[in-house]
Amino acid sequence: MNIGIIGTGYVGLVTGVCLASKGNKVLCADIIPEKIDSINKGFSPIFEEGLDDLLQSALENKLLEATTDVDYVIKNSDVIFICVGTPSLPNGSMNYEYVEEAAKNIGRILKKQQKFKVIIVKSTCIPGTTTNHVGPIIEQESGLKVQFGFGLGMNPEFLREGVAVNDFLYPDRVVIGVSDENTKDIMMQCYAGFIAPFVIVDPTSAEMIKYAANTFLATKISFFNEMANLAEKFEADISVITEAVGMDHRISEKFMNAGIGWGGSCFPKDIRALLHKSREFGISSKLLQAALDTNEAQPFEAIRLLKEELGEEKLKNKRIAVLGLAFKPNTNDMREAPSIPIINLLLKEGARVVATDPIAIEEAKKMLNHKNLEFVTSADEALTEADACVLVTEWSDYTHLPIEIFLEKMKSPILIDGRRKYDYEKMREEGIRYRGIGLGH
Ligand SMILES: NC(=O)c1ccc[n+]([C@@H]2O[C@H](COP(=O)([O-])OP(=O)(O)OC[C@H]3O[C@@H](n4cnc5c(N)ncnc54)[C@H](O)[C@@H]3O)[C@@H](O)[C@H]2O)c1
Repeated sequence: MNIGIIGTGYVGLVTGVCLASKGNKVLCADIIPEKIDSINKGFSPIFEEGLDDLLQSALENKLLEATTDVDYVIKNSDVIFICVGTPSLPNGSMNYEYVEEAAKNIGRILKKQQKFKVIIVKSTCIPGTTTNHVGPIIEQESGLKVQFGFGLGMNPEFLREGVAVNDFLYPDRVVIGVSDENTKDIMMQCYAGFIAPFVIVDPTSAEMIKYAANTFLATKISFFNEMANLAEKFEADISVITEAVGMDHRISEKFMNAGIGWGGSCFPKDIRALLHKSREFGISSKLLQAALDTNEAQPFEAIRLLKEELGEEKLKNKRIAVLGLAFKPNTNDMREAPSIPIINLLLKEGARVVATDPIAIEEAKKMLNHKNLEFVTSADEALTEADACVLVTEWSDYTHLPIEIFLEKMKSPILIDGRRKYDYEKMREEGIRYRGIGLGH
């Protein structure tokens, strides 16, 4: 099929490259020329395992082309996926600007071309956006009627950054939100060759499925972070608690690791957008608010443990190593990463911070800048002469460090394990002053 992608970020590029890997002809558009240059040279502007290889073979097979000419992509595609960002506005509501701009563009081209195309919203959008915003904008700009002049659908994306290619190619389910059979059939052709349950619903339900999934996952983590904070007070250990609780198949062991909270481009903004909308409906979503509040406080648990361990010495002029900057491992995405509030608070309290990450340092520099903040390229350098260390992102590079590196490099071997990755008994036996989230002994 001739597929067009508008917006080549995490979702757009992965969608485009993966659909090309299935033999479709894909045109990708973005407004950022550097991204387009990089894609056409075979290098993904984002870090995702396996993406460069698939991109390069799509380019070699002439199945993918990227351009800043959005009109060209719309003109030459039969199915167009809108994959632009839907960030938060300052009041927490969803910013419709990019989706609306894409819809206007599509409408203008449809007016000139008068050819039936299917428009699919893949961006995460507040329920009702596809039917009540995107459809009417395209109708107004093109003079065509939805269903007759063009097809309209919503296809939420559930990929996880870090394993995005795998998630896209082997999804748990594909949700297709459509109002007519023709659009449904065309969407099923796009996903030909995918082995997954297909859930066919109306567009608004498709949008709601995405919000319900994301806000549930965010709430699940916040719940276990609250349990972790309580476990510490009860002098118990959250790791064994979650392990046993997760053995209950009704609960599942996934997504319950206690730590310093979630970040990234999706959970925070999606929960805020749904909260904002629920307030407009006059509903106070207490559970969602609590999940957000718990999460916002959680990074500071690491600082509390650090201060307790440093005791009277306080943080002023202490050299603190921060291991990991990205919001999670295997990505360079720094959006709403817990490392940001942690580093900012350390700096505010007078500490000198030496931070490292395998791939997110350049992104981090765009968000963190202070005379007492230094970025280094290895854990070894970060730990050298450090008064304490905080494990922030559970990159495998940092979760299996030999004990000697803490003992020999650091001024004092204090490890605050923000992700509960180390065996605390072993660490303490070896002389590490270990503190972990949710560990009360
Ligand atoms: N990142 C994820 O893990 C993930 C997972 C599932 C769903 N989503 C959702 O998918 C959507 C996109 O997320 P993302 O992380 O890929 O965003 P992103 O910010 O990485 O990418 C969006 C891209 O759209 C481009 N763009 C903006 N306006 C444009 C226009 N008018 N024409 C062409 N390009 C335009 C931007 O330049 C940018 O490259 C969001 O709604 C997000 O919530 C994201």
